[in-house]
Amino acid sequence: MSGPSLRKLDAHRAIHDGAFMEAQSLTEMLNQLVEEKKEKEALQVADALIEHWEKRVITHADSEEEGLYKEVVEKEPEMQDKINMLTRDHDLLRIIAKKIRESLEKDSVSKEVLDFFASMLVVNEIHSRNEESWLLDYDHHHD
Ligand SMILES: [Fe+2]
Ligand SMILES: [Fe+2]
Repeated sequence: MSGPSLRKLDAHRAIHDGAFMEAQSLTEMLNQLVEEKKEKEALQVADALIEHWEKRVITHADSEEEGLYKEVVEKEPEMQDKINMLTRDHDLLRIIAKKIRESLEKDSVSKEVLDFFASMLVVNEIHSRNEESWLLDYDHHHD
């Protein structure tokens, strides 16, 4: 998604929250399956979860960098530092997602993969709240 809806706080926050809740519930399911030693099902859920991160969250990040972030810096150049920080958060998500992909190629859900998925949730949560308060609440003050 791109365009005006990313500039609206409520719509943008709803995108964050929807993607987060789905990731959280798949992550809980994955942890449970690993605990129960259901390896085949765990692999299927891990595949669905990494695809969710890539298709919903990293795609969202790509479109922000192509649109919203550029517009913010054009309008307010002093926002560049914050945009760099938010872009680094996106990069961390991309880097961890790549590590998960590599690890899943071994055809098992390791402890390492579970840790990486847990860290995706943490990084994403911090990122979303900062993005909302810096860029979107910010729009309300500057309109
Ligand atoms: Fe973002
Ligand atoms: Fe966002």
